[in-house]
Amino acid sequence: MTSPIPVYLDCDTGVDDAVALAYLLASPAVEIVGIGTVSGNISAAQAARNTLDLLTLAGRDDIPVAVGAHDHLDHAYGGGAAWVHGENGIGGVVLPRAEREPDPRTAAQLLVELSHAHAGTLHIVAIGPLTNLAHALELDPTLPARVDAVTVMGGAALAPGNITPAAEANVYNDPQAAAALLAADWDVTLVPLDATMEHTMSEEQRGMLLADPRPFVHAVGEILDHYFDFYLPTYGERTSALHDPLAAVVAAGGATPARAPRVPVVVDVSQGPGRGQTIADLRGQRLGARDHDGVRIRVVLEVATPVAPHLIETILAH
Ligand code: BDR
Ligand code: CA
Repeated sequence: MTSPIPVYLDCDTGVDDAVALAYLLASPAVEIVGIGTVSGNISAAQAARNTLDLLTLAGRDDIPVAVGAHDHLDHAYGGGAAWVHGENGIGGVVLPRAEREPDPRTAAQLLVELSHAHAGTLHIVAIGPLTNLAHALELDPTLPARVDAVTVMGGAALAPGNITPAAEANVYNDPQAAAALLAADWDVTLVPLDATMEHTMSEEQRGMLLADPRPFVHAVGEILDHYFDFYLPTYGERTSALHDPLAAVVAAGGATPARAPRVPVVVDVSQGPGRGQTIADLRGQRLGARDHDGVRIRVVLEVATPVAPHLIETILAH
């Protein structure tokens, strides 16, 4: 068996971030070597607290967790999305407080250091606003040369946005950072709403997490409860869109995208109604996916096989 891919996870934990974390901890294909948090669903500090508490429950106090950017590149943190993720970011579930505190480094410093320790093999999985990655690129512009791949949950190519008509939340929360990430010279896989809204978890599958005797897996099932309420009007039933988990599964090779052309993507960084929109050049794709020469951004438009069974199976099998 090949050795697991070292992963730096950048997140705003966050209900679906917690599910993605559970999957990445369980997947034999990857090894999380560090985590940075960013404001998004909740403040970067609270996201770190949630992440530390989850890791302690999972018995993984060995993974460094660094607090990243509180504010974004061109604006201050806006207060999060309590209506989606609960007041504390994890659906209002109160976890036992981990004894350990965050790593003293910033998330950007941690990422740059990990890129040296795992030069050529490090995979970045970014499932929150992209502020920390923009800071890391500024801190060390040679970073992309040491990173094997970047997978981002973010954007909406042909699908509607989820925070504005045009924009997906992670990109909208820091459009300039997303633009910087997409302009850098590295292989990026963008997993936008086009794909993530098509993958959901059922109550029965959540029940399988709840039924697990391990406190960590059970807690992930509990944390999802509030999120299932949020998605009721969208899907007409209690369920959860699998935004961050789908990005995690794609990064770990647990699902192969059915349609994922390499196309140029630009981000609207204006203050107008298109702010945060990811404009993917999908012209001429009617007869099938067509890659643009020299483009290093892959946009996952579709993952055909339902991902939830693999997600649950992997978490439970660990
Ligand atoms: C993304 O925004 C956040 O609310 C979720 O955690 C996910 O990363 C979905 O648009
Ligand atoms: Ca997230």
